[in-house]
Amino acid sequence: MLNVVILAAGKGTRMQSNLPKVMHSIAGKPMLEHVLQTVSLLEPAAIVVVTGHGASQVQKNFGSLPSLTFVTQSPQLGTGHAVQQALPMLKQADDSVTLVLYGDVPLVQASTLRLLLNDASKKLCLLTETLSDPTGYGRIVRDDKGNVRAIVEHKDASPDQLAIREVNTGIIAGPTSCMQRWLGKIDNSNAQNEYYLTDIVGLAVSEGFAVTTAQPSHAWETMGVNTRAQQARLERAWQAELAARLMDKGVTLADPARFDLRGNLDVGRDVFIDVGCVFEGNVQIGDGVYIGPGCIIKNSSISDGATIEAFSHIDDAVIGLGANVGPYARLRPGTNLASNTRIGNFVEIKNSVFGESSKANHLSYVGDAVIGNNVNIGAGTITCNYDGTNKHKTVIEDDAFIGSDTQLVAPVTVQKGATIGAGTTLTQDAPEGRLTLSRVQQKTVFGWTRPRPKS
Ligand code: UD1
Ligand code: CA
Repeated sequence: MLNVVILAAGKGTRMQSNLPKVMHSIAGKPMLEHVLQTVSLLEPAAIVVVTGHGASQVQKNFGSLPSLTFVTQSPQLGTGHAVQQALPMLKQADDSVTLVLYGDVPLVQASTLRLLLNDASKKLCLLTETLSDPTGYGRIVRDDKGNVRAIVEHKDASPDQLAIREVNTGIIAGPTSCMQRWLGKIDNSNAQNEYYLTDIVGLAVSEGFAVTTAQPSHAWETMGVNTRAQQARLERAWQAELAARLMDKGVTLADPARFDLRGNLDVGRDVFIDVGCVFEGNVQIGDGVYIGPGCIIKNSSISDGATIEAFSHIDDAVIGLGANVGPYARLRPGTNLASNTRIGNFVEIKNSVFGESSKANHLSYVGDAVIGNNVNIGAGTITCNYDGTNKHKTVIEDDAFIGSDTQLVAPVTVQKGATIGAGTTLTQDAPEGRLTLSRVQQKTVFGWTRPRPKS
């Protein structure tokens, strides 16, 4: 039975922020959410988040998750003191194991934690790493045989110990009952007058209890965030990992260093993604899709063979087979484009369905509309869907042709095969197969001359 304690009480002073540190994001998601999602893969019996600064803000965001409880640590007297606060919430059973994680170390992977937990019902298991610069970290002190003897904090370490490059990542697991016993014995007689969680290692060793170590597969798994600069570095490291995973699935990224994924991206084969695109929420992309530079795509699905040209903004839209969108198109929520549609530059679409092979190539606004198949919407066409109070629907049936600079004052229907003359303000339904237009008679003013400059 697994208990997880996530330490998140630290102030995060160096973030210079009103937001609690663990609410700051990596890849568009709060750091604590990354940890919680990873932890949920381990199916723990209890998760206890130790909060302190900004406790209510953190609880408000995550309060509803099952098997998750919060304890507040105030004042913050050290990592050992923090875990002590969580003890009453832990599930006790003979085989109970407790895993301690940090809320500001967001990217540790479930595979690494499983490795650490392998022996955790019989041994105290430490996730350690060997760093070229171990400054600031607790050092892993081993004896001649290589057995772990203790963790010594940087500020308490002797010159010899400071030379040790194997460090404590902070992630520790062991039997719940032992952790409880050892935590009852720690004190704060050290350089920082704190109750160190790391002191349980020496206590385990003194009882003859086995202590073992494991290492993460990637350096970024145990990178913590204390500053905005560290947050930015971790963001880049994680984006590089996400980019690598996509390339492994057959995506071409014009430049993996200029790619941002803030959510989930499902991809087909032979997808091309140019530089500077941002993907948010859940996005699905089919085979052979081309995405030009600078596109922002959120909660949308793009079918096989579609092309999204540069600088298009797509939110909550469905794009059909072989469709062609952009450059500079804006597809707002509720846009549904059937196959072989064509949406060109400076076209905004909201809550509208486009049938097969229909086109709006230039400078239009289409909102709350149902467009049939093979419809051509001329440049500058506007659906006047909003009367200031309510939204109204525009229907344009199959094979209709809407001349340029038309205003469709909804509710209004353009029937099958109708043609609307350029410049029309359509206020009544246009009948099937006919030309309908509203146009002020053209006139020429004879005898008019241009004003001359005043002398
Ligand atoms: C800790 C470890 C050190 C390890 C390092 C890795 C101890 C004594 N030291 O040091 O061995 O190398 O992490 O980064 O454990 N926290 C609380 N309550 C507290 C104190 C801390 O919740 O009273 C939380 C912080 O929010 C943070 C984590 O615990 O998420 C670590 O605290 P931090 O002060 O960064 O520990 P270090 O001194 O860096
Ligand atoms: Ca730290």
